[in-house]
Amino acid sequence: MGVPVLYYITLLLLLAVSSVVVACPPSDREALLAFKASLHEPYLGIFNSWTGIDCCHNWYGISCDPETRQVADINLRGESEDPIFEHAHRTGYMTGFISPAICKLPRLSSVTIADWKGISGVIPSCISNLPFLRILDLIGNRITGTLPADIGRLKRLTVLNVADNLISGRIPPSITSLSSLMHLDLRNNRITGEIPRDFGRLGMLSRALLSRNQIEGTIPSSISQIYRLADLDLSLNRLSGPIPASLGKMAVLATLNLDCNRIAGYIPASLLNSSISDLNLSRNALEGNIPNVFQARSYFTVIDLSYNKLRGTIPKSISLASFIGHLDLSHNRLCGRIPAGSPFDHLEASSFTFNACLCGKPLKAC
Ligand SMILES: *[C@@H]1O[C@H](CO)[C@@H](O)[C@H](O)[C@H]1NC(C)=O
Ligand SMILES: *[C@@H]1O[C@H](CO)[C@@H](O)[C@H](O)[C@H]1NC(C)=O
Repeated sequence: MGVPVLYYITLLLLLAVSSVVVACPPSDREALLAFKASLHEPYLGIFNSWTGIDCCHNWYGISCDPETRQVADINLRGESEDPIFEHAHRTGYMTGFISPAICKLPRLSSVTIADWKGISGVIPSCISNLPFLRILDLIGNRITGTLPADIGRLKRLTVLNVADNLISGRIPPSITSLSSLMHLDLRNNRITGEIPRDFGRLGMLSRALLSRNQIEGTIPSSISQIYRLADLDLSLNRLSGPIPASLGKMAVLATLNLDCNRIAGYIPASLLNSSISDLNLSRNALEGNIPNVFQARSYFTVIDLSYNKLRGTIPKSISLASFIGHLDLSHNRLCGRIPAGSPFDHLEASSFTFNACLCGKPLKAC
């Protein structure tokens, strides 16, 4: 064989190999087309780009692993600054359901199908079989059904966001096996039942947002073992029982929202002498005194204790605090003179009204 022939054959081989490597696997393409077939997006035409052999190339919202060319990300947001939305002068709207065909994309790492307002149906339970899944973000749809029972198998999952849907049923006990989970957002659904007792196993969690559901039972004290937890929002549920005092000992907990529940007992002193700077305990059944534990390093952007059954006086130490932005003690059974000085000089009467017998500025003189 002459050199030019060899050269020619090598070139052909290279071309053949590279075309095999470049196009996405036909099975991935088929899975995406089946996924698309169960959705209807009438206004923007985002699926018009889903044509051609290579689903890694210019398919809107799809990206692939650069080495294996398998589909790695589905990123479809109904609210976006993409030009496609600007041209249409509107936000996205999509109906239909999430096809179990997405489970046939074995390399999927992130699934974002967010803010389409009209997508219904359930979360395909086979999603728990996707070993590389890191992000599942389905916020802002009309998804029903329950969270998959064996969701705990997703060992790489860091973000689970299903907020603003119609999800019902219990939090699956397996959820506490999500050892990589950092961000859990279940807000504004119809979730019932209790928070798993061993919730504290979620050692990587930094945000746990469970607000606006129908969650009952007590707050598991194991939560306080989550070293990185910065934001805990359990508001607008049906939680009862006491506030675990250990929540006040957490290293980085900055926001604690327990408002609008049926929480009873005393406010643990530790909670007011902690890293928490945004504290809402409003609309519960808390009783006893407000602990007199404020000090120079106390710093609060919000303390809302309104609509409880708190008694006694406003603790004197509160004027030692370095900062208190918003304080609401209204609708309790407090009595006595409102301390003078900061933070009281910038607060309005509404922070103190509807108590047993509070007096002094900004209320009437004693
Ligand atoms: C605290 O929670 C109550 C009840 O959910 C809410 O009305 C109030 O606005 C919250 N307070 C602050 C300061 O956000
Ligand atoms: C507040 O907490 C600190 C340590 O976190 C502790 O040393 C101090 O005694 C506590 N203060 C009160 C009044 O409980």
